[in-house]
Amino acid sequence: MSRSPPNATLLVIGGGYVGLALAARARAAGWTLRLTTRSAARAATLRAAGLGEVAQLDLTEADTGARIAALASGVRQVVCLLPPSAGIDAANSLAPWIQLCAVLSSLPDLESAVMASSTAVYGDQAGATVNADTPCAPDTPRAQRLYDLETHWLARTGNRVVRLAGLYGPGRIVGAAGLQRGEAVSGEMDAWLNLIHRSDAAALLLRCLAPGGAAVELGCDGAPVVRRHYYQYLAAQLGLAAPSFSGLPAARGSASRRCSPALTIARTGWQPQYRDFRAGLAAGPLPLPLGKTPD
Ligand SMILES: NC(=O)c1ccc[n+]([C@@H]2O[C@H](COP(=O)([O-])OP(=O)(O)OC[C@H]3O[C@@H](n4cnc5c(N)ncnc54)[C@H](OP(=O)(O)O)[C@@H]3O)[C@@H](O)[C@H]2O)c1
Repeated sequence: MSRSPPNATLLVIGGGYVGLALAARARAAGWTLRLTTRSAARAATLRAAGLGEVAQLDLTEADTGARIAALASGVRQVVCLLPPSAGIDAANSLAPWIQLCAVLSSLPDLESAVMASSTAVYGDQAGATVNADTPCAPDTPRAQRLYDLETHWLARTGNRVVRLAGLYGPGRIVGAAGLQRGEAVSGEMDAWLNLIHRSDAAALLLRCLAPGGAAVELGCDGAPVVRRHYYQYLAAQLGLAAPSFSGLPAARGSASRRCSPALTIARTGWQPQYRDFRAGLAAGPLPLPLGKTPD
């Protein structure tokens, strides 16, 4: 957790799956929060959670520069949890993201700003181990875009990037919905899968608000799993038949690398609470079988 005093204001841009967990954790630690979302429905959910001010913001709409400046007024820390698509305009340029970065760079009171990125930027490493300092080799358009977003973000001194592995936790289990629909699993079944529980990701992002750390950190549980083994275990936990693999390419690719958090743990003092996906799944709740409702 950052050393900022309690009641310092933290702006969370993107109050989605991780944003909600991060906000709850930060609120419990005494932060004053501002959260953004695009939709009125999500804004109502976030307000009902009582975590702080909630504002609607869509980076791709006109005049967002002024809106971000107003939202960030007096803010000391920012965590940005936007998907890569949020920084792209209709002409497929990074103009909205560049504008966001420019506004943040102009804020006199801003101490630190952390952006969530993805381990996808490391590209396919043929199963080799990567850590936060491994050179990037983006090998898909999405990974290249993420890498470009990171580059703009890091142009401001003090900004930091946390590259996250596949997120899972309550309400979101990687691959569960497809298994429940009886679909064959796409992608390379012997590639390595890297995961991080949502609450561990939230804790690391907050930890990286502390001043003076490395520009880039890597968030994962440190227990990569072969995809075939992951899906077999998950199917068994869900009470489903063993999965089949289609042999078709996965929508997001299935680059093989083993992510290590060791360097990030050494530099930040953060530790994942859930050391592998089995521990995280055991913490539950697992999705219910299709058609079942809670008792
Ligand atoms: N999911 C993964 O496995 C994974 C893996 C590695 C890294 N990451 C990164 O981790 C971060 C958090 O992921 P998440 O799963 O919490 O994402 P999420 O649940 O999809 O939440 C994304 C948030 O960004 C907001 N947003 C989307 N487009 C926007 C736009 N054009 N303008 C303004 N706000 C916009 C969404 O608004 P609404 O609330 O209106 O939807 C939502 O609040 C993201 O940066 C993601 O790229 C995710």
